[in-house]
Amino acid sequence: MNFYVMTLFPEMILEGLSYSILGRARRAGQISVEAVNIRDFSEDKHKHVDDYPYGGGAGMVMSCEPIEKTYRYLCDKRKLRSRPRVVYLTPQGKVFDQQMAKEFAQEEDLFFLCGHYEGVDERVLDAIVTDRVSIGDYVLSGGELASMVMIDAISRMVPGVLTNEESKDTESFEGNLLEYPQYTRPEEWQGRRVPEVLLSGHHAKIEQWRREQSILRTWETRPELLEKAALSQKEQEFLEGRKKQQS
Ligand code: ADE
Repeated sequence: MNFYVMTLFPEMILEGLSYSILGRARRAGQISVEAVNIRDFSEDKHKHVDDYPYGGGAGMVMSCEPIEKTYRYLCDKRKLRSRPRVVYLTPQGKVFDQQMAKEFAQEEDLFFLCGHYEGVDERVLDAIVTDRVSIGDYVLSGGELASMVMIDAISRMVPGVLTNEESKDTESFEGNLLEYPQYTRPEEWQGRRVPEVLLSGHHAKIEQWRREQSILRTWETRPELLEKAALSQKEQEFLEGRKKQQS
């Protein structure tokens, strides 16, 4: 899968996506990341990429022309046959989640437009953007970190990027339950013991304990997710029992 990032800070993108699983996937050619500086396409002698907002108000607005030129440069260079999906990162977008990551991972080419300043001229968004996406209900200084978050989550869904061992975590999130707690050596650390069941070697009991821990954690921190989780009759009863104990 090929990612193209239109940004004022290409080094930030390339550096940030060169570690761990993403770095490995790029080196193995399973994904590619090209980050292009919008400023390189400014025809202004001072290389300006923004201007004052019509109607007045604080801040600057990124201009249409350099952004569209960056986009066209990438499309022409890569000889894209059909119009690619172009994600504009904005807190006004649809909120990103695992399901969206899976859908975007079906694309062969995916573009990101990272805005800065107070925003981007709406006309260039209308002309090239296909998806407006937010990574959560807070405001970042620009779209770069948000695009990196998306590229990380999407890449993990591209076949071959994760090893079999690594894929297991993602599958469990798809069941709409949070992960169970993990422990490693030593058995006791500063007076805190590893739960006895994990030392028992009894695999069925361990599985059941982990599943119950996942259910309890999800109920405590993300109860809205539980509504979408498929719990067995026994698990429902277990959860009801715990709720009663607490009230
Ligand atoms: N740009 C600024 N804030 C953002 C957010 N929350 N998500 C995506 N892009 C953004």
